[in-house]
Amino acid sequence: MRFFLDTANLYEIDHWREFGLVQGVTTNPALLAKEGGDALGRLKNICSMVAGPVSAEVTYQDHPSMIQQGLRLAGVAPNVVVKLPATIEGYRAAKVLGSRNVKRNITLTFVATQAIPFLMLNSPPVEYVSAICGRPEDFGVVSLEASYLKATIDRLSKVTQLLAASIRTSVQLASVIPYADVVTVPPSTWRTLFANPMTLQGENDFLNAWRELPAEWRTS
Ligand code: G3P
Repeated sequence: MRFFLDTANLYEIDHWREFGLVQGVTTNPALLAKEGGDALGRLKNICSMVAGPVSAEVTYQDHPSMIQQGLRLAGVAPNVVVKLPATIEGYRAAKVLGSRNVKRNITLTFVATQAIPFLMLNSPPVEYVSAICGRPEDFGVVSLEASYLKATIDRLSKVTQLLAASIRTSVQLASVIPYADVVTVPPSTWRTLFANPMTLQGENDFLNAWRELPAEWRTS
């Protein structure tokens, strides 16, 4: 299982590398827009910082434009994976881009059955299907069962990897670990996990107790 970082921020990529949590990067148009500046130049920089796959999403809704843009994105670096939405136009673009040896990540998948047509593509099979976990829960809707998507992938493809995405909380992260081949996590989620108030409080409690010992009785 691998961990990707869901960000377009170069500082975050550099920061989280040390923790082994940047085996790849996923971006989307909103993440790139948030950083401002030249998006393609930024993508190039990300690709040079990361040895693993870097997902970059198309910004058109018709397949001829998706294909053209997908080829352009794939030309940025050999580790680019083109992200396409799980729509009819996304399907048409995925088919053509696959035949041109472009790696694909099918995104905005909210139920396992949406992945079926994409899993039937076999020349070549798509590299990733992204299960979007946090977004439905933002609106009070229970998110997709990663186990159903994993079972669907295993029945139909065996090659395609389940990429769990949009991971906002520790509960969402824990729920996908048994099934995901890759989990892409935003820096904010890792930051929250490292700042668990019970961990910080416990650390303080223990140190306060320790400091009550006379200095000569404390191990250094
Ligand atoms: O890579 C996953 C990402 O596209 C999901 O976006 O906005 O739901 O965190 P978001």
